[in-house]
Amino acid sequence: MTFGFFCRSAARQLFSASHTTVDPKEVKKFQLLAHKWWDEQGEYSPLHSMNDIRVPFIRDTLLNLSSDHQLGSPLSGIKILDVGCGGGLLSEPLGRLGASVTGIDPLEDNIRTAEQHKSFDPDLDKRIQYKSCSLEEIAEESTETFDVIVASEVVEHVADLETFISCCYQVLKPEGSLFITTLSKTQLSYVLGIVVAEKIMGIVPDGTHDWEKFITPEELERLLESNGFLVKAVNGMLYNPFSGSWSWIESTSINYALHAMKSKAQEQSSSREPISEAEEEQHPARANTSTTV
Ligand SMILES: C[S@@+](CC[C@H](N)C(=O)[O-])C[C@H]1O[C@@H](n2cnc3c(N)ncnc32)[C@H](O)[C@@H]1O
Repeated sequence: MTFGFFCRSAARQLFSASHTTVDPKEVKKFQLLAHKWWDEQGEYSPLHSMNDIRVPFIRDTLLNLSSDHQLGSPLSGIKILDVGCGGGLLSEPLGRLGASVTGIDPLEDNIRTAEQHKSFDPDLDKRIQYKSCSLEEIAEESTETFDVIVASEVVEHVADLETFISCCYQVLKPEGSLFITTLSKTQLSYVLGIVVAEKIMGIVPDGTHDWEKFITPEELERLLESNGFLVKAVNGMLYNPFSGSWSWIESTSINYALHAMKSKAQEQSSSREPISEAEEEQHPARANTSTTV
């Protein structure tokens, strides 16, 4: 029995046994702000500026994996599923790079905002489609459909991370890429991510995050590798609340970005790509780090 077959039948059993990745309490947190996604100075300002590093990270990783790019439209021909797309802050730049993007979110009001904003740019209309649904609904209707999945600042809100990862495996094509950004589960992430960001500085609304749902890169890596993925890169990210900007850092103890690929069944989990010093200098986002406090 192949891993893929096992995963599909296991996934079907999980869905029918009422396992859901959606935690209604978590989704409710986004309801009140569903019309605020595109306010660059508002509550989602850190997600706007995160595009400055996450979009190049996704773009350059994908370009490094393929030799065939179209000038000006480097991601053309690539089918991306943006899970937990919110108002489309990440779907839009990926669509502008030429990708064909499906953005999904369990909250209908988020999808309404994303649809409305997309309509301001007719070029995006044919490249992006939005749907209000869960990942498991997509997995029920499609197998090996997407080249890439992005789940940016989402896994810390899901109800059942194992089902979430298993659905990602199912809907990705073989050797497809999964990009995750999230918060690590450390004392430092509690102090900076919750006490400072939510309670003292109000950078994000109070109550947005539940520290219990955070996950260290090591734990996420174990979960991904036991579900048929190979983790290729883990990079620390740091938000500067004074400049409102993000940068790559070595430590993954607060925020981090991860790239994993759906492995072929026989591949070993130890096959992370080594990167050369020259490549690391040119492209720090590809560096493999996994430091925690
Ligand atoms: C912090 S926002 C990130 C939005 C977007 N990915 C971005 O970075 O701009 C988290 C989003 O995840 C969605 N969400 C919450 N639980 C989810 C789940 N189980 N599956 C998919 N999306 C979920 C929320 O509705 C919300 O839009």
